Amino acid sequence: MNITYNEQNRVFKLDTAHTSYCIGIVDEENFVGHIYYGRKLEEDNLAYLMRTAEAPFVPSQNNRDRTSFLDTFPMEYTGNGLGDYRESTLAVRTMGGHSGVSLSYVSHRIYDGKDELPGLPATFGQKAECKTLEITCEDQALQLQVILSYSIFADSDAVARSVRIVNQAKEPVYLTKVLSACIDMDQEDYEMITLHGSWARERIIQTRPVMKGKQSVSSVRGESSHQEHPFMAWKKKTTTEESGEIYAMNFVYSGNFLAQIEADQFGSMRAVMGIHPQDFIWKLEPGGSFQAPEVICVYSAEGIGGMTRTFHDLYRNHLIRGEYKDKKRPILINNWEATYFDFDTDKLLRIAKQASALGIEMLVMDDGWFGYRNDDNSSLGDWQVNENKIRGGLKYLVDEVNKLGMKFGIWVEPEMISPDSDLYRAHPDWAIAIPGRTGSLARNQYVLDLTRQEVRDCVYEMIAGVLRSANIEYVKWDMNRQLSDLGSYGLPADRQGELLHRQVLALYEMQDRMTKEFPNLLLENCSGGGARFDAGMLYYSPQIWCSDDADAIERLSIQAGTALIYPLSTMGAHVSDCPNHTVGRVTPFETRGYVALAGTFGYELDVTKIPEEDRNMIPQQTAMYHKYNDLVRTGDYYRIAHYADNRYYDCYEVVAKDRSEALITYIQVLGRPNFHSRRLHIPGLDPQAVYVIENAQDWPEIRQTEYRGDTLHHAGINIPPISGDFKGRLMHLVRKQA
Ligand code: GLA
Repeated sequence: MNITYNEQNRVFKLDTAHTSYCIGIVDEENFVGHIYYGRKLEEDNLAYLMRTAEAPFVPSQNNRDRTSFLDTFPMEYTGNGLGDYRESTLAVRTMGGHSGVSLSYVSHRIYDGKDELPGLPATFGQKAECKTLEITCEDQALQLQVILSYSIFADSDAVARSVRIVNQAKEPVYLTKVLSACIDMDQEDYEMITLHGSWARERIIQTRPVMKGKQSVSSVRGESSHQEHPFMAWKKKTTTEESGEIYAMNFVYSGNFLAQIEADQFGSMRAVMGIHPQDFIWKLEPGGSFQAPEVICVYSAEGIGGMTRTFHDLYRNHLIRGEYKDKKRPILINNWEATYFDFDTDKLLRIAKQASALGIEMLVMDDGWFGYRNDDNSSLGDWQVNENKIRGGLKYLVDEVNKLGMKFGIWVEPEMISPDSDLYRAHPDWAIAIPGRTGSLARNQYVLDLTRQEVRDCVYEMIAGVLRSANIEYVKWDMNRQLSDLGSYGLPADRQGELLHRQVLALYEMQDRMTKEFPNLLLENCSGGGARFDAGMLYYSPQIWCSDDADAIERLSIQAGTALIYPLSTMGAHVSDCPNHTVGRVTPFETRGYVALAGTFGYELDVTKIPEEDRNMIPQQTAMYHKYNDLVRTGDYYRIAHYADNRYYDCYEVVAKDRSEALITYIQVLGRPNFHSRRLHIPGLDPQAVYVIENAQDWPEIRQTEYRGDTLHHAGINIPPISGDFKGRLMHLVRKQA
């Protein structure tokens, strides 16, 4: 890891273990240009790549064709409205009503470590673990300072970028667009990978060619969303799981976003990512500053899998925090699909008793314990225990659960307010709404206006009061509607455009407060399933509920898309009841266990009511979790086959960092008639080591149990045909001692 500045040719070079990122300063006007991002280079004399010898360069000597220059030159971060007609990254509205911005280099600073981004989630590292380059640019006419920040890590090939804007003028300026990162490069026939979905089918991988014009994913829903994800990658057509070049950007932010690639007239492309400019206008007072959230850029020459493993390691080591960062999580049982709103102390204790006897370690009480909430029409905002249901009080329930040797967790939805609640009746102006308009309800609820300190304090105190009242060791923080009707009774007219971003900052502040007051709490974020499964939330909670769809087969796609970026340790995954409540599918209990094993692992069913043969399997499943979770949580993840591509089977692998063992999950989605064994190639092993199938008893059809790592990788192994649909098996390979 190193950051250098070559003063002679005015080139910055950021080197990670396998990549280089180069930035150049050009012309008398000190434009900050992008030179190169890719495989590591020794050379730093790269200014020749900037096409400064080609017409119409350079503006200071040939102002005649300034717009042609601005419209083609590869910029590190762009101005607006002066001739670069590609997507801009920064735009303003001055008091005079103008939108033009032009940025020039002023100075730079290279330092060990990485500063926090005030109020925002961001990757972090000690002084010895990372280095940061800050390039200060300026628009002289606006007296606006723009500080571009780039951090690199000793143990990662990622580059973390962010931008800070400082108003040095004597009058306010409105920021109408502040994206966080831009990469301009030549368009080499790339394909773009993005994630798409809906409720119950989040983050399904989609690949499409990068065409001329703009292609984007975005959210204007006030959260990162079920529908599209703040991530994009672009790769060569020939890039596979294991080899070839790929670039990616992922946003460490949980609100509106734009991620876009624009391929232009000259065969160049511009990739940008940041807060979506729609409904965003930020007033910056003289002396004020605005910090844009962080974008993680990754380049890998080792295929899509290389990109994935770079994100996993970065997030495990430099984003996720707290007590459970590196710890095995307690196996939980959540009562949502077991009881929905129909529960009381007795019912919960019956579930807990049975669960604890089977090896389950924590009971989570989901929605319905507060106010007078017996369905989803009331009481959000009234965070007082309903003692008609929780008879004997919360402390009694928690103590009884603790006596069984189990931990206790609770569900909350702090950002919301039901029209039918005491809180709303007392403070109708605390909901986000436009005066004079009937508010749009979703799930019969409004969003609380958390931009107001008194609202944050009130809700926080109510919920913290509950957490303080008993030994609660886990919180599921839910968020069940997207934002609309953007209006705040707490913000002046000229700051209404700040509402969406301020709401996200408020959420971060509240989670920060909770994790500081309850440092041992295991926090799991959730949003109608996985609508806010993003890198921003991972800074506060080491795990996030992946999806309300816990069907084992649907989960194969949902978890494959999620694990494209996020470590398996972060994916909330449970064994649920059958027929599955979302799709009605019936899958074997074993298979549900194997699929949940790829995440945090837990149960979402009434353990007192499921068939006895399933219940009897739970002790084996919890033992399986204890046996494999260290490996699953900390290892390197490899996708081997996906049934969405091949129609029949799914296979993935986790290899220990020291390559001493590997766990392969094989799920046959559909049985195939009249078919021989299936050849699978097993990557990631130590090529020279010999591996033994440790659980050979689960593979009676395979007679040989020892193989060299390189043989398994290149020649592969034949997986015998399995009769039936939705069947799964694990293969545990253990390196033989030399
Ligand atoms: C959301 C969550 C579910 C459950 C319900 C409760 O949909 O994703 O897991 O907690 O809310 O209302």
